Amino acid sequence: MRKKMIAGNWKMNIAPSRTTELIEEIQNKAESMTANVDIVVCPPFPALDRASASLQRSSISLGAQDLHWENDGAYTGKVSASMLTDLGVEYVILGHSEQRTYFGETDDTVNLKAKKAMDHGLIPVVCVGETLEHREKNITERIVEHQVRRAFWGISQGKAKNAIIAYEPVWAIGTGKNATPEQAQDVHAFIRKLIEELYGSAFASEMRILYGGSMKPDNARGLLQKADIDGGLIGGASLKADQFAGIIAAAQ
Ligand code: PGA
Repeated sequence: MRKKMIAGNWKMNIAPSRTTELIEEIQNKAESMTANVDIVVCPPFPALDRASASLQRSSISLGAQDLHWENDGAYTGKVSASMLTDLGVEYVILGHSEQRTYFGETDDTVNLKAKKAMDHGLIPVVCVGETLEHREKNITERIVEHQVRRAFWGISQGKAKNAIIAYEPVWAIGTGKNATPEQAQDVHAFIRKLIEELYGSAFASEMRILYGGSMKPDNARGLLQKADIDGGLIGGASLKADQFAGIIAAAQ
């Protein structure tokens, strides 16, 4: 049985000085639901230390939004996997479409980052998804297959254990236009089949595949009821504790 997961991707929002407050609000509204749903918050790098301190006695987990694949050295502006684990980070979002679109992320860098994350015991949340143009050309599956295969290239089953995939149709991110539960389910089932091909059916049936893209309290239930949708990666609605908690409640 896959436990549902709701992860909040704060992106470049919420100043470090506001982090404790938002986390406390989320704890008040949602901590009691962690028995049934894994809850993760992913603040920007400068807020991770405070977030980690706030979550010390909490069953809500901490995630980061990226890492660099080298261990250390002259990489101005970058953050390593061991810096994240040093702060108590457990999850890391990789290959988000905003990284791919604005900051030159490629399938190869996602693969390098995923390997590094796994080496350090961080659980990667690997984001994949098609653009509107891909969907209109009917090549969603081809695009997603390529992204998934390349992200997990050369990674053994043992190493990939616990890894998470987030299916995030690019046209649904931050647009208020979510995929319908049926559209999302189709792609999730396709991804699970592909993972089965790569790592076997036992592995595939354990792997969590999250949906991301304008998930809100009022559309979450329909999406989360689908057989292969195991949770959500939430952007905008994760910045308001009551909305985030509303989505978590829908995942119960
Ligand atoms: P959104 O973002 O919920 O604001 O659409 C989701 C994401 O980018 O992870």
